[in-house]
Parts: sequence; C-alpha cells; structure tokens
Amino acid sequence: MPLPPLWSLGHQQSRYSYYPDKLVEHIADQYRAHDLPLDVIHLDIHYMDGYRVFTWDKSRFPDPAGLARSLAAKGIRLVTIVDPGVKFQPEGGYTPYDEGLAKNFYLKQTDGSVYVGEVWPGKSVFVDYTKEDARRWWGEQHRALTAAGVAGIWTDMNEPADFRDPSGKLHENIRFDDLGQHTPYNGLRNTFALNMARATYEGLQRLQPDRRPFVITRAGYAGIQRYAVKWTGDNNATFASLSLNVPMFASLGLSGEAFVGADIPGFIGRGDGELLARSYQIAAFSPFFRNHTAIDSYDKEPWRFGAYYEDIARKFIKLRYALLPFIYTTMEEAARTGVPLFRPLVLNFQDDENTATIDDQFMVGDALLAAPVTRAAQREREVYFPAGTWFDYWSGAIIAGGQMRSVAVPLDHLPLYVRGGSIVPSTVAMRHTGEKPWNPLRFDVYPDAHGAATGSLYEDDGLSPAYQRARCAAPPSPSPTAGSACAPRAPSSRRRASSRSSSTASRPMPCSSTAPR
Ligand code: GLC
Repeated sequence: MPLPPLWSLGHQQSRYSYYPDKLVEHIADQYRAHDLPLDVIHLDIHYMDGYRVFTWDKSRFPDPAGLARSLAAKGIRLVTIVDPGVKFQPEGGYTPYDEGLAKNFYLKQTDGSVYVGEVWPGKSVFVDYTKEDARRWWGEQHRALTAAGVAGIWTDMNEPADFRDPSGKLHENIRFDDLGQHTPYNGLRNTFALNMARATYEGLQRLQPDRRPFVITRAGYAGIQRYAVKWTGDNNATFASLSLNVPMFASLGLSGEAFVGADIPGFIGRGDGELLARSYQIAAFSPFFRNHTAIDSYDKEPWRFGAYYEDIARKFIKLRYALLPFIYTTMEEAARTGVPLFRPLVLNFQDDENTATIDDQFMVGDALLAAPVTRAAQREREVYFPAGTWFDYWSGAIIAGGQMRSVAVPLDHLPLYVRGGSIVPSTVAMRHTGEKPWNPLRFDVYPDAHGAATGSLYEDDGLSPAYQRARCAAPPSPSPTAGSACAPRAPSSRRRASSRSSSTASRPMPCSSTAPR
C-alpha cells in the first residue's frame, strides 16, 4: 500500500447521514467542546442532490467550500461518499449521466444495451471500469468534490450492490469490455471495486498532485491495498460482531491490506456504553479509526452514551494520538514491506506454536501486545505472553513470557503490554493530527533480558507524495550531528535507535537502512 496521509490515521466521525451543513458544524464543535480528538467528518449519501453522484444538495449544503474552510479552521477534513450507481436520467439535466452515455462508458448486456439496475437514486447505470478512458473520466468527475475542499473519497456499494438484482442472476447478462474481450460478468465481477478504487485514486492523484490520495472501499480484491483503505462494512453494534474485529483485521493484514478498520461501535442497532468502551479499546489500534452509524440507528458519537463511557472513549482516542509517532512509523514499514500494523501473534512469534490459534489478542507492530475484551460483562481474561520479557504498558510491571496469565479487565482497562527489547516513540495527545509537530517527542525504552532495545522513528511532511521521490540514500554516519549524514534530511527520514542500557537510548542514526521504493 502507499503511505497514507497522517490525518487519515486520526479519529473520524460519520453518520448515515449528517445534514444540513449546520449539523456538521455542530458535530465538529461538540467534538472540540468535549475535548475529543477528531480529524475527519464523513458526509454520507444525503449531501448529494437526489443521490446523484458528483452533485451537492444545495438546500442542505449551499456552500460546501465554505463548510470545508470552516472545518479546516478547526483542524477537521471532509470525506464524501461516492457510489458506483449513476442515476439513469434519460430526460436530461444530469451531466455525468449524459457524458458517460455519450462516451459509451456504461456496462452493457449481451444484446448491446446498457444495463439499468437500481441503487439509492432509483434506476441506475454502472461504469465499465475495465475501460481506461472510463476510469480517467470517473476520476475527473471528483473535481466537483475536491474543488469544494473535500479531502478524501469513500467508495461504497461497489460489489456492486444492486437492489434490482440481489441474486445476481440478471448480472450474468453483463459483459465487461475488458480491452475488447467482452468478458462475462462472473469472470471479472470481483475486480469491479478494484478498478473503481483505482479510477478514484488515480483521479485524486491527477486532481491534487501534491496530496496523498485517501480512498475508502467496502469491496475489494487482491491488490486493493494499492488504492484504498478497507472498512468491514455494515457490522452489528453487538459484542458478537466486535469479536470478529481481531481475526478480520489480522487476516486482511496478512492478505496485503494493512489499512483496515470497522465501524465503531457498530453500524446496525443500538449498542450500549459498554460496547462503545470495548470498541474504542480495539479501534485505537486499527489503522482506520471511524465511528459510524446507520440511518435508523441511535446517535453514536461518544458523548451520547453518558460521561462515564465518554471518558473511556476519550482515554483511548487520546492514547491513539499519543502513539501516532509509533503508529505512523509502523504504517511506513507496512507501505515499504507489506508487513501490517495490526498483526496476529503468529506473525511475530512464528516459532511459538501456541500463537497459531490465538485470535483474541493482537500485536501492534513489533512492540505492543493487546488483549481486548469482546464479551459483555467480562471483568477478567486470560492473556498469553510469548517468550521474552513483557512490560505492562500502564504500570510498567515486568511479566515473564512463555506463560498464560489471568488479568483483571475493568471496563476502562485494555490489557496492553510492551515487548522487552523495544523503544516506543510517542508524543502528547492533540485535538487533531495537524495541531502541532510531535513535540515533545518521547522515547520509552523497554530493555530485553540483556538490557538491549531498538526502535525506529519515521517522519515526513505527512501529506505530500514527496516521500516517494526523495529518500535518503546515504549510509548511517558516526557524525555527532544528527541529520548531518544526509543533506537534505527532508522530506522523509527513518531513524533507528538502539540502546544498551535501560535508561538511555543511543544517539539516533539518521536515515539508516531505508531502502528506496
Ligand atoms: C451502505 C454502507 C454504509 C452507508 C450506507 C449509506 O450500507 O455500508 O456505511 O452508511 O450504505 O450510504
């Protein structure tokens, strides 16, 4: 996957749907009033004019650019949903439909006619993203959103979902152009979302060449990580659903899709404060970190559950922001090597067969081990510690590895441990990722049994694709001046620190061992 913009690792709030613009502003203000960090608000399908993609409902959002500017002043970005169903409007008056038809971009059936299905706008047509010129055209349509200051795109319903044909029988008549091969639908259906995400990603690259694109997807296929972040779709606001988070995120990570997450605390149904608290304890470490809820569900912003539960959510949202230097560094590793941030234990401890079946604990990078709670009313759980030395993240207590221990799990507590031998970079929690630089930057040294520890810190501008162009090629230098080995050190650098004593980290070595992409 490409390195995501730093802001996309911040906390995000969504609802099906926030409107009008005043409500969006209100949610942003509530976040700041409640001292809850937030980087993004999502606009679901009601921002559009009659669910027509690439339009704005001017009665609900008379000045989208003004809204984006006002949110930006609070450090909050806008992400808008875009569905693949283009409203079928043969009577005219909807330019994207007319253009796509004139250019022959819509999926056709064996008899040569355009397939008309049914999605949110009613009768809808779908773009044939196997056509390169159609992908380019689709990407260009996003100008209607980026010109208003929209920072990222949430592509949804891209299986593609079709209310007219839930069984998929009618779709069997569809043929993808597929470079003139007219491939039957079932042969390429799974690439629909992949090609739509590609069209969106490449479109954003062309529209905003100085920005890393941010695209979210519901469906995917091998390779989707090159273009989009995967969220796990319409989950239930239940503990049964929450318990699927760890195996799903870990499996997706092993499949190459490292940037994953689920709706907090669950999309469908009510959910209660206890579920909210336990959801945030996992989500604080899932790369995609978004609260979302369905149209007919209760409001689920953290303050809706009462102060006791809101305080727990705040604790874990702030933990996420404090650990951003470690999380961003590990995401850079994922972008370079494919090894995910959110890992099953078996990935880190491959020689320990006890880890092979553990799917209710996870590692965050190489350093952190979490053992979340996914059952209601659970106040004690077993935690497996692989061989080595472990430190309780909260108390600093040392725990010997190679054993199973029973630990207390009061509702405000996530069992979280640090592997001996790690140096974990962190900073102070902020209201949003862009509030200020990581200053102070803190390095916590957790020595192994020999008193040694290593860790890395990756830094860049967090926003532009410059990291792909200028990586420091110079070897590590013994120079006493940090950074002098590589001129210039910007725009990106990865520093590796190691320590031989439990109290002091050796001087960081700038730009060491970073392979060019
Ligand atoms: C789908 C999405 C959901 C979204 C809804 C309306 O169900 O999965 O997240 O809120 O459509 O757009």
